[in-house]
Amino acid sequence: MDNKEKAFYITTPIYYVNDVPHIGHAYTTIAADTMARYKRLRGFNVLFATGTDEHGQKIAKAAEQQGMKPLELADSVVLKFKNLWPLLNIKPDDFIRTTEKRHEIVVQKIFDRLYEKGDIYKGEYEGWYCVPCETFWPESQIEGNACPDCGRPVEKFHEESYFFRMSRYQERLLKHISDHPDCIKPESRKNEIISFVRRGLKDQSVTRIKSSLNWGIDVPFDRNHVIYVWFDALINYLTVAGYGINEDKFNFYWPEAVHLIGKDILRFHTIIWFTMLMAADIAPPKMVFSHGWWTIEGDKMSKSKGNVIDPYQVAEEFGADAFRYFLLRELSFGQDGNYSRQLLIHRINYDLANDLGNLLSRTVAMMVKFCNGKIPIPSGDAELFDKELQMLGKETVLQVMDSMEQMSFNVALEHIWTLIRRTNKYIDQTEPWVLGKNKDKKIRLEQVLYNLAESLRIIAILIYPFMPVTAFKVWHQLGIEDALENMTIPEKTEWGIFKPGTEVNPDTSLFPRIEEEKKSILTEIVERKEKSEKKNMEMNKQIQGLPTISMEDFQKLDLRVGKVISAEGVTGTSKLLKIEVDFKTEIRTIVAGIKEYYLPEKLIGKNIIVVFNLAPATIRGIQSQGMLLAASDEEQVVLLTTDKEVSPGSKIR
Ligand code: MSP
Repeated sequence: MDNKEKAFYITTPIYYVNDVPHIGHAYTTIAADTMARYKRLRGFNVLFATGTDEHGQKIAKAAEQQGMKPLELADSVVLKFKNLWPLLNIKPDDFIRTTEKRHEIVVQKIFDRLYEKGDIYKGEYEGWYCVPCETFWPESQIEGNACPDCGRPVEKFHEESYFFRMSRYQERLLKHISDHPDCIKPESRKNEIISFVRRGLKDQSVTRIKSSLNWGIDVPFDRNHVIYVWFDALINYLTVAGYGINEDKFNFYWPEAVHLIGKDILRFHTIIWFTMLMAADIAPPKMVFSHGWWTIEGDKMSKSKGNVIDPYQVAEEFGADAFRYFLLRELSFGQDGNYSRQLLIHRINYDLANDLGNLLSRTVAMMVKFCNGKIPIPSGDAELFDKELQMLGKETVLQVMDSMEQMSFNVALEHIWTLIRRTNKYIDQTEPWVLGKNKDKKIRLEQVLYNLAESLRIIAILIYPFMPVTAFKVWHQLGIEDALENMTIPEKTEWGIFKPGTEVNPDTSLFPRIEEEKKSILTEIVERKEKSEKKNMEMNKQIQGLPTISMEDFQKLDLRVGKVISAEGVTGTSKLLKIEVDFKTEIRTIVAGIKEYYLPEKLIGKNIIVVFNLAPATIRGIQSQGMLLAASDEEQVVLLTTDKEVSPGSKIR
């Protein structure tokens, strides 16, 4: 650590030890590892941390069910995480367990500090608790015993508890978010958080009485209480950065902290975490980026469905780099996406074996055949195809840098693959095998082969953060001896620095092709086609069933854009939501049958389209003052919204 260096601190969530690692854990950790490697190539001094969250009721319960002590369970499961990371080519700088002494000290220190400031006080908690989410829920948000987030049963309790005065920080939190527009990403999720905070923050219970749960860190000044697992877990990010122990380290890394997390734990990481830090006079992290969730072959992943993806198994069957590539290439980091074995195989065969693997093997083989296995000296004048390739090489580096700054891993990979495919095309355009037959074309041949090797050298550096082992293999076959990890971007990705005379090392192919499961792909296509035909027929029927209307008829409708400002379930129904909608001139209540398709909090901030002049109707005792528009097929109901931001109340014509 040197003050002239640029710091970068990246974290993953710390994972619960009640269960073994799955694709969700692998996803964030691979993304964080990729970003850490990339930032190192950009010359940053990086601290990359992951770890395990070992306290709380969920772990205590899981241990009890297995007849173990909580720490025994943690000790065994933690190895499954620790051993997985090297198999996925992941290299964290620190692995924190919340049961470590170094962490306990920091948690108690922060707890004491907030108590001394009057931001923690003793009270009574009466309400509900979801053990799987480790979340407190007030009575007003619970309906029919189900957790509003995960839908699993909640438990009710009433006990003495210490509270964190979170409500005091509401305005400061809103100001912080508005002053630091990049502190919560992506933008849509930031808006959800802002709407949530605007509805008002309540104080947060931050302890459990030991008679109901004693697996946690003791409250330093009251041994009858243990600290709430989220209060404890979030502080891991401070512990790793050296808070209270190594001030230089902390001051160096903390201002550059980036937390990667899944979308389900964003509120904890922004609302609770940011306000806790404010209370402790510590600046909130620079950025919290929440990524989407994977469904598996189109279905929600769950143990009961037996479709949980085991990263050990995927890495063993297909190799860690192929898995890393697939996860980061297949979907945009903030969005949900679908994991499918066939798609993975497809990507391996086309992107990795065909595009990248063939480019390398063709280049190295031609180097051996035409240049005695050595990188030639490029002495001819650059021709059009050479200039185009060179230009694309330069552009690709800039585009990768730009995409990585925005955590757009998939876009960065798309750019790299454009260069790979263009380089393959360059071989077809320049036909080195034809040049090789004519002695007069030797200079041209050497020029072409040099460009191929140079493009591959740059490609190896660019893919290194994503697929480190593959990049090393490319590097090795190209015969370069300088350490790949020291190849800084953009300095070492300049075109033309490959040393002529370097001896290549031909080796086996990078990615052997995998037999595609053609039968099931076909079946899938046929099934999809049948389904869509059925859907079309039904839609046609509906369309045919409606009489034509005149423009005048249509103009009788007053359609307007409204912004949802709050939404909640209607008690005693499984389908209805009560939604407050802002139309600028007034706020209206609308009751809509979309509860099965939308979580209330996900609606907040959304623009919806409403039939504004529909006669009011009373539904379940609530007057509904309009009807929202939605599209439906046999599987889902999807709200109509606006393509861009537009003022509430805008008319639809
Ligand atoms: N212990 C807390 C985090 C504390 S951080 C201070 C926790 N642990 S967890 O083991 O449940 O972690 C789950 C992580 O995996 C979350 O980021 C979650 O979003 C992610 N995923 C769980 N299932 C997932 C998918 N199907 N797809 C992608 N990520 C998913 O929460």
